[in-house]
Amino acid sequence: MPLDRSALSDLGGRLQGPVLTEPETLGRFSHDASFLVGDPAGVASPSDREEVVEIVRWARRWKVPLVARGGGTSLDGESVPPPGALVVDFSGWNALLEVDLPNRIARVGPGLINRELQRSLAREGLFFPPNPGSWNESTLGGNVATNASGPRSFRYGPTRSWVRGLEVVLGSGEILRLGHRARRSSTGPDLLGFLVGSEGTLGLFTEITLGLAPVPERRIGVVLALPSELDLGRLLVRLTTSPAPNLAAVEYIDERAAGALAQEGARGLPPGSSVLLLELETTVATEEQDALRLLERVRSAGVREDPSVYPNADELWTLRGRSGSALDRWWPRRVREDVAVPWSRIDELLAEVRALARRSGVELSVYGHLGDGALHPQFLLDPASPEGQSLRSELLVTAHRLGGTISAEHGIGSVKAPHLGLEHGRDGVELLRELRRSFDPDGILNPGKLLPPAEGAAATRGERST
Ligand code: LAC
Ligand code: ZN
Repeated sequence: MPLDRSALSDLGGRLQGPVLTEPETLGRFSHDASFLVGDPAGVASPSDREEVVEIVRWARRWKVPLVARGGGTSLDGESVPPPGALVVDFSGWNALLEVDLPNRIARVGPGLINRELQRSLAREGLFFPPNPGSWNESTLGGNVATNASGPRSFRYGPTRSWVRGLEVVLGSGEILRLGHRARRSSTGPDLLGFLVGSEGTLGLFTEITLGLAPVPERRIGVVLALPSELDLGRLLVRLTTSPAPNLAAVEYIDERAAGALAQEGARGLPPGSSVLLLELETTVATEEQDALRLLERVRSAGVREDPSVYPNADELWTLRGRSGSALDRWWPRRVREDVAVPWSRIDELLAEVRALARRSGVELSVYGHLGDGALHPQFLLDPASPEGQSLRSELLVTAHRLGGTISAEHGIGSVKAPHLGLEHGRDGVELLRELRRSFDPDGILNPGKLLPPAEGAAATRGERST
């Protein structure tokens, strides 16, 4: 749906930069890392906060949907533009605005790439704990908008635990500034936390304040080949029972994904088996003793092979984060999932995932954040086909039945929007819908994402699949 000419010239008059409408640019901004393709009408890169306000006022006036965009790495269609949308490209808002050393806080532009922040902070002996697989491309705005997690979230929690402040332009055009730098606060419900995970549906982030952690004296990456029959739940209990080794991450890659990574040239993975990846936090004085204790633990859980040590744990997480793209080469179209269950139900989840693949007659690969019971089952099946959709649906119902969640870290987007009621219930969804209206009275912010279509309304998905 092209933009009305008068709407376009009205917007052009409000911005310093151009509004891009060439087909190549629209094509580039029409998709994220999911299987969906949207239909944007234009792309604008606002030059400051006032221009973001102008864009929102313009969109209200002309009833144009807006979709905020960072690195475009979302996996459930969060940044896929609805038809006729204006993409608000924040990738140029990539400044590290401030590092407040005594308080361990950073203030950043929403377009700053996660890994770039980590690089700058390393010089100060600090880091931002959530390190999603996409950390080399995804932006902090996107990380906050989906409440992203990564391997280190096992010890440090998701992005939400680290957001200390936000400046956000609401769908009304008002600017809201939330947060403070104190270590604790008791000022009623968590309005700041409510905006985390809002997927561009409540407001557009213009500035983000994040808490930071001190880099441990020593980090050791450990890679272990797992025997195929190993009970992963039991292994996890062995790794986490007091006095537990000081692990920052407990990750799992099955044989198939590890094989795909090896084919891509990944070194340091044992050939032909599934793999456990750990990050041990320790000190120079105690590292040998801590590593030995960790080894005893994994041995007692039935792991026989010797571990290999990865000297640079950051590289290990970049490697692990490439599991999905390594599989892309062999299985470009597949149902890529993201669910989490309580620790005690991990083996049941795995058994049910395998049974689901068998019943559907499809190939399966599983990798993920074992330490948090968060797995990414990958089924070799067209994600847009009726079979793919019903398989997804069955998986989400299973995760919910096991006491888990339908999205561990990839958000809801449009792929999971129809399923949100499973987790929040009908009343919860309606309440969310009302709250969304108070932030965005005209429904211009990323419509079709996060919430299922209102009852009685025609389901407008707004995207096609590739
Ligand atoms: C990962 C991303 C896909 O864990 O969440 O690789
Ligand atoms: Zn993940």
